[in-house]
Amino acid sequence: MSISSNPLVAIRGSIAHCLRDPGAAGDVSAVEWFEDGLLLLEHGRVMQLGPASELLPQLPAETPLHDHSGQLIMPGFIDTHIHYPQTDIIASYGKQLLDWLNQYTFPAEAQFDDSAHAREVADFFLAELLRSGTTSAMVYATSHPQSVDAIFEAAQQRQLRLLSGKVLMDRNAPEALADSAESGYRDSKALLERWHGQDRLLYAITPRFAASSSEPQLIRTGQLAAEHPDVYVQTHVAENKAEVAWVEELFPHRRSYLDVYDHYGLLRERSVFAHCLHLDHADRRRMADSGAAMAFCPTSNLFLGSGLFDLDTARTLGIRVGLATDVGAGTSFSMLQTLGEAYKVLQLNGQALSPYRALYLATLGGAQALYLDDKIGNFEPGKEADFVVLDPQATPLLARRMAHARNLAEQFFVLMMLGDDRAVAATYVLGELAHTRSV
Ligand code: GUN
Ligand code: ZN
Repeated sequence: MSISSNPLVAIRGSIAHCLRDPGAAGDVSAVEWFEDGLLLLEHGRVMQLGPASELLPQLPAETPLHDHSGQLIMPGFIDTHIHYPQTDIIASYGKQLLDWLNQYTFPAEAQFDDSAHAREVADFFLAELLRSGTTSAMVYATSHPQSVDAIFEAAQQRQLRLLSGKVLMDRNAPEALADSAESGYRDSKALLERWHGQDRLLYAITPRFAASSSEPQLIRTGQLAAEHPDVYVQTHVAENKAEVAWVEELFPHRRSYLDVYDHYGLLRERSVFAHCLHLDHADRRRMADSGAAMAFCPTSNLFLGSGLFDLDTARTLGIRVGLATDVGAGTSFSMLQTLGEAYKVLQLNGQALSPYRALYLATLGGAQALYLDDKIGNFEPGKEADFVVLDPQATPLLARRMAHARNLAEQFFVLMMLGDDRAVAATYVLGELAHTRSV
């Protein structure tokens, strides 16, 4: 019997998920793990999780069973900041942020006035997310409204929970990408009315960064946000020192870069700020009070030489933090690889990233950053059944090293240091198989 013709489905394997942030020390009780577990789904939602030995005998006869014994099942990864139009410029040599934008990013994004191109890239991009075990993402489109339609249509087809929006940029932008305060407002409003809340899709108002929006555009963007309090906001802040100095020049009356967004009403719940590297204590306090979230983008921060994220201070202050690839400044779609780099960034910053906290950042932490933890992020009953099946034996080296891993924390740490899309055996969306690794 196929999955869709039976409302009940059972998944067997080594199953783990986070109940809360395990903290810097990696509190074991924050993670629930069933070494031989069974996840019972109904109509694509989690019904029950427990030991296979207890749940299997109670299963109604003919319940379809996907047996992933020997593999590790976890909630699907949540990438809280990524640019789909930058797929084709990932791994572009030799620049820091502002030069990288001009030399590689803007020319690539200019091509998205062509809907056919946007659809082709969107399709590849979502396939790549699923290959990496990522089931939800907060995604930049370009300034072209048709680029937003393309990514939402592709995500809707795959039933993905995805957030996206039209980039707003009316200054310091090439003509092919520039909008205006009025057209940006109008196009964003039309798009959010079309897409926000359709199936699993959510709209994010997307000023590229303070340096590429005029004051009139930021005023209109703040108005749009005020008119739609349940809609998301995504932008960049304090990524690169030259960028910070430039924004301070452009907005001499604001206390800080972050204060520019605050001033225009863009710092609030459901606002997600990528990078957050060069902030001061007042900024961090304000982030915490506002309910906004940080997207930690380690591969991007290393690639562009931007700086080292301060996770401990953010979490100690109670700031929501999600993990993010930030492709194409980020160098991998894989959240496993991104965790591996997060570990190294934090090492350089004198901080620890325990394997359990790493798992949290890639799953429940991302869901909390996006205010979606009532829907995704772990296997609590009623949640949407998005999950990834990881193969601890995916490569000869993984298999060899895994033989010496004594518990879940050690297994997951090995996966995040050595794993990538090769370790993703399967990805499920709403309980249905959305990707299987070809052998
Ligand atoms: N700041 C403004 N735009 C961008 C972008 O596309 N990528 C990154 N990493 N930072 C930005
Ligand atoms: Zn970015």
